[in-house]
Order: sequence, then structure tokens, then C-alpha cells
Amino acid sequence: MERTLSIIKPDGVAKNVIGEVIKRFEADGIQIAAMKMIQLTKTQAKGFYAVHKDRPFFDSLTDFMTSGPIVVMVLEGKNVIAKNRKLMGATNFEDAEDGTIRKDYATNIEKNVVHGSDAPETAAFEIGYFFNALEIQEK
Ligand code: CMP
Repeated sequence: MERTLSIIKPDGVAKNVIGEVIKRFEADGIQIAAMKMIQLTKTQAKGFYAVHKDRPFFDSLTDFMTSGPIVVMVLEGKNVIAKNRKLMGATNFEDAEDGTIRKDYATNIEKNVVHGSDAPETAAFEIGYFFNALEIQEK
């Protein structure tokens, strides 16, 4: 059993596809162990994306991530990190496979609807950034 952090970004919330995204997770056998809707401050967005702090898109990305509410979830299941990344599709939606969330709903490389942890270490950091142990359902 594995856990990962999923975010439905401000563009996904604004496009009214929260249910559509969650439907795809559930249809793939992924379970939701925690979920909430919040709006990040600039400082919180910068902390979450600190690994990208030297990238040219950092300021724009953190502005975008604070531009409206987001839905953060802890997803649980066998190989859920890889499973979620397959459902999301490539970061750049133009490279994403047909039928993926980003291919279907992304606007550009930044407004790409969803975020998902890319490895167990980042999942642990990212889950801990948004949720404490009491907020995550134990099986
Ligand atoms: P995400 O998977 O959340 O990880 C970093 C985010 O930065 C990415 O999705 C995009 O929203 C955003 N981004 C903007 N420009 C780029 C870029 N050139 N390369 C990668 N990510 C980018």
C-alpha cells in the first residue's frame, strides 16, 4: 500500500472538474484517505514548490497556485504514485496521452489541472505539508 498527494489546482476547481478528476481516481481503484479545499497564501505556495525556487516559472507558478481554491487529497492504493501520474498525463499537456486528465482539461504547461507527487520521498513531504496524522484515515 502506498500514499501520494494529489492537488486539483485553481484552474481545475474553476473549470468545475473536481468530480470528474475524483471519478477517474475511483474508477482506477484509488482510495481517498484525506481531502480538503483550501486557498494557499504566496508563502505557503512557495514552501510547497521550494524545489522549483530557482526555475524561471517559480513566481508565475506560485501566483497561479494562490489564485483560487485548490483541493488537496491523500490518495492510497497499490502503486498509487505511478497510477496517479499515469492518470494525470505529462506535465505539458501537449505531450500527454489521450484520455489523461491533463490532455482533457489543461490550458498550458502551468495551468495543468492537477499535481501529483513523483516519488515516495516527495509524497511524504507533500502529504505532511497539508495533513497531520489525525486527518488521514487509517485502514
Ligand atoms: P506540477 O506537477 O505541479 O510541478 C511543477 C509545476 O510547475 C508544474 O506542474 C506546472 O504547473 C508548472 N510549470 C510551469 N512551467 C513549467 C515548466 N516549464 N516545466 C515544468 N513545470 C512547469
